[in-house]
Amino acid sequence: MSNTIDVSLTVNSEQYKRSIEPRLLLSDFLRHELGLTGTHVGCEHGVCGSCSVLFDGQPIRSCLMFAVQANGHEIQTIEGLGTIDHLHPLQEAFMEAHGVQCGFCTPGILMTLVPFLENNPDPDEKEIRAAISGNICRCTGYQNIVDAVKLAAQKMSMRSEP
Ligand code: FES
Ligand code: FES
Repeated sequence: MSNTIDVSLTVNSEQYKRSIEPRLLLSDFLRHELGLTGTHVGCEHGVCGSCSVLFDGQPIRSCLMFAVQANGHEIQTIEGLGTIDHLHPLQEAFMEAHGVQCGFCTPGILMTLVPFLENNPDPDEKEIRAAISGNICRCTGYQNIVDAVKLAAQKMSMRSEP
């Protein structure tokens, strides 16, 4: 008897159908079933934030969910954020303000920040630090990340001006 469950979900605006084991983590589903390896896996128990993706627009830790729980839902990963030719303002700002060093934490931090900046387009430093307090970065010391978020907020406000 097959021990798999059929799921259908949307990832980065594309529809996927798969037959998967119920114990498969969403992070492993994204990486191994769909090949979306931009979602990184660090601690695998909800602490580091590197596996963060958007689940129906809200940031979640994909290592703390089973892929079957995403059945019928919409996921956005870092691969859906921008393209090489059209980077998201957050991606541009992290590049320009040196918010990236090894880059391991970066996808999770960016996916955490997308809804944060949508809800808070002009954040101060304290708010930015609170927003990324669930994301561990071992390289940057966080200051360049904070500067990059401020720069991204400026870029986004300029783009939304008429
Ligand atoms: S890998 Fe999911 S929170 Fe660390
Ligand atoms: S840039 Fe290396 S962990 Fe954040």
